[in-house]
Amino acid sequence: MINRAIELVRKSIEPLVFTGAGMSRESGMRTFRGEDGLWNEYSPEQLSSISGLRSNPEVVWDWYRMRLMASEGVVPHAGYEALTYLQKEKGNLPVITQNVDGLHRLAGQTDVLEIHGSMRTASCLDGCGFSTELTSEVLKNIPPFCPDCGAILRPDIVLFGEPLPQEVILRSYRLAEKCDLMFVIGTSVQVWPAAGIPFTALDKGAVIIEINPVQTELPHNENVISIRRKAGEILPLLFGTGEKI
Ligand code: APR
Repeated sequence: MINRAIELVRKSIEPLVFTGAGMSRESGMRTFRGEDGLWNEYSPEQLSSISGLRSNPEVVWDWYRMRLMASEGVVPHAGYEALTYLQKEKGNLPVITQNVDGLHRLAGQTDVLEIHGSMRTASCLDGCGFSTELTSEVLKNIPPFCPDCGAILRPDIVLFGEPLPQEVILRSYRLAEKCDLMFVIGTSVQVWPAAGIPFTALDKGAVIIEINPVQTELPHNENVISIRRKAGEILPLLFGTGEKI
C-alpha cells in the first residue's frame, strides 16, 4: 500500500492535499470528534457559533483564549515537514485545510487555503474594518473590544452558521475537480461544505490517499487507499526520507 502510494505521488500531475484536525494531533492539538475530541466536552453551538458569540461573548472568548494558550509553542511535527518537502519536490501542491492553527504555513508550506479561517487574528464583529493579531495583550480583557467602534471582536474563523470565504471555497472545489490525486489527512469528512471536497475529487476520477487511524465516511473502493496510520508517523515514512519523488 505504501509503495503504491509513493508510485501514485510520483506519477501524479495535479496532486492536492486536504487536511483536518487530526493532521495536528502529533503537534499536541486536540481534534473535535473521536477520542478526546473537543466536542465531547464542549458545545459547538455555544462556543463556535455566531449566536453563541453574540449571546455569551465572555464564555466564547474564554474558550478561545484557552485554545490559543494551548496552542502556544505548538510546532509542526515531522508529518508537516514531510508535506513541505513534498510540496517543494512536486512544485505544485496546493494545501486545503480545515484547521485554523496555522501549522501548514508555520511549516513553510505555500499555497495554503484556510477554508475555516485562522484563530491567529480577530476583527470587529460589527465589521467596522478593525483587525488585529490575537496577542496575549489583546486577550488580557475578555471579551476584547474594538478600539475603533467599541463592538466586541470576533476570532477570524468561520463560525457555525456562517458561510465559508467564497473565493477560497470556490477555488478549493475547482482544485478538487481537476486533481488526479488527493491526500485526505486527519479529517472525519463530516462538516460540509468542506467535506464535499474529497467527494468531488472522487466523482471526477481522482485517487484518494486517506491517512487516518479511524475509518471515515469515505467509500471503500479501488480509488481510495486508506492508510490507517497517524499523520505524524506515516508522512515522514512516505516522504521524509529525502528520496526523489
Ligand atoms: N493522524 C491522522 N488522523 C488522525 C489522528 C492522527 N494522529 N488523530 C486523529 N485523527 C483523525 C480522527 O480519526 C478523525 O477522523 O482525525 C479526524 C479528526 O476529525 P474532526 O475532529 O472531526 O476534525 P475535522 O474533520 O477537521 O473537523 C472539521 O469541524 O468542528 C468543525 O470547524 C471544525 O474544522 C473543523 C471541522
